[in-house]
Amino acid sequence: MLTVTFSARVAVHPDAAGRGVGRCLWAKLTEWILPQHPRQILSWADKSDCHSLAVADHWGFTRRPGTIEATEDLQNAEPWPWRYELRLDSLHLDSVLDHAVLPADVECHTLAEVVDDADLVASLHEAHEECRTDVPSWEPYQTMTKQDFEKSQRQRLVDGGFGLVAHRRRQVLAATFAEGMAFVPDLHNDFTMVHRSVRGQHLAVTLKARLITSALTLGFERITTEVRSDNAPMLAVNETLGFRRIAMRHLVSPPSAGMH
Ligand SMILES: CC(C)(COP(=O)(O)OP(=O)(O)OC[C@H]1O[C@@H](n2cnc3c(N)ncnc32)[C@H](O)[C@@H]1OP(=O)(O)O)[C@@H](O)C(=O)NCCC(=O)NCCS
Repeated sequence: MLTVTFSARVAVHPDAAGRGVGRCLWAKLTEWILPQHPRQILSWADKSDCHSLAVADHWGFTRRPGTIEATEDLQNAEPWPWRYELRLDSLHLDSVLDHAVLPADVECHTLAEVVDDADLVASLHEAHEECRTDVPSWEPYQTMTKQDFEKSQRQRLVDGGFGLVAHRRRQVLAATFAEGMAFVPDLHNDFTMVHRSVRGQHLAVTLKARLITSALTLGFERITTEVRSDNAPMLAVNETLGFRRIAMRHLVSPPSAGMH
């Protein structure tokens, strides 16, 4: 049986804190996850967020392995998911705009436009499946049918997410996807991809630069993203655009963890 790692996070509005809302959400979440035989459940909290860390302890999470602040802290050079942020209030917009220029024969559409265009969705799905298999990860990527892919991207939009898709003569070359975070003006950029045939031509930097300017227009204050320490091209893209690595405590919950 295939066992997978889940990534889960519970967010409660500060006005509703302390009334058991988080407990209910975590119970529902584990009710759904546990029958799927998880290898582990990963979560994370800012290292200064004592309340969240205490709640996570209470729910059976352990901290793994403390706070990793620098590459030297990684044991045995084991790959590690680095978290990055870009604060939009202190952004040097000119340098971002310099990166946002696409080649003349490449068009860019929002994900909202693309999901209603059957041919572009099909091309996006195909490129997505290819690129996902190239992401360094702990478990092999489980392919997604076009129907499920389209459904998940529509859901992303309903949930306040966003995406940009670049194509040349209707062949998708690159895309970047983001989701809005609950209760905070943050956008989480969860995937950026460039078709194998056109990598190294700055399309990832360009699309991410466009994502940044869109986020600014939409009133977001921060963009976060996560990249594994062995994904050199993506680390380079983030560095070019001024993303800063932030220290997080990564939390891990064993498969048996349910509610206390
Ligand atoms: C990551 C990915 C989107 C980058 O696409 P790309 O077309 O190479 O990106 P760009 O050309 O815009 O920029 C690549 C940068 O990485 C650098 N780079 C490429 N390969 C590198 C390597 N092996 N080591 C270090 N830097 C590298 C390039 O020099 C360039 O930096 P520069 O702007 O300073 O010249 C692409 O490789 C991809 O689709 N990978 C699979 C999906 C993936 O892993 N997505 C990220 C998940 S978090």
